[in-house]
Amino acid sequence: KLKLGVLISGRGSNLQALIDACAAPDFPAEIALVLSNKADAFGLERAAQAGLPTAVVSHRDHPGDKPGFEAAMDAALRGAGVELVCLAGFMRILSEGFVESWRDKLINIHPSLLPSFKGLDTHARALATGVRFHGCTVHFVRPEMDDGPIVAQAAVPVLPSDDAHALGDRVLESEHALYPHAVRLIAEGRARVDGDVVRIESGATVLESVI
Ligand code: GAR
Repeated sequence: KLKLGVLISGRGSNLQALIDACAAPDFPAEIALVLSNKADAFGLERAAQAGLPTAVVSHRDHPGDKPGFEAAMDAALRGAGVELVCLAGFMRILSEGFVESWRDKLINIHPSLLPSFKGLDTHARALATGVRFHGCTVHFVRPEMDDGPIVAQAAVPVLPSDDAHALGDRVLESEHALYPHAVRLIAEGRARVDGDVVRIESGATVLESVI
């Protein structure tokens, strides 16, 4: 099984989706480490509940020293034998050095249909833009923020009654289906980086609508 390192900063509902997926005997990945940059992240409780190894590497223990912060994270991940790093609501921007050292072994879930709405407040911005579909993306990480080869996406409708909260809840539900699906594609070797895009093996299961 592919060994995952899941990086979190907070609630950890996407971590929970991965924990639940990994509980199925036929799932081709397992969580080797849950790493948080915040000691009070609720996701750490989810990990402990599931009996998973956890680590806290706080950016506050490395003031003004991003290389030191990232070296500590890197050591924890490599020490746990992690083969694929999954950012799951990890809210620190990673440096080019860290990203390149995990090139094609580092993925992120972002709450929009990239390349639209990079950055924060994606649901309010989607509503303000008047798009009729919104959603989420799992992509390989490149040094530029919210950029990189797309592994999988899920779309949800934007409804006339939506506010950012309602729309965000619908997107979050789609994230919980999408992240395990994307990890499975990668772990089974059905999604491979080819230049700037990910090629999906023909015949691979495509995520059904999650609306
Ligand atoms: C998720 O919606 C995730 O897509 C988003 O933060 C939330 C984390 O929720 N990530 C980003 O905005 C990354 N810039 P969770 O902690 O419950 O998984």
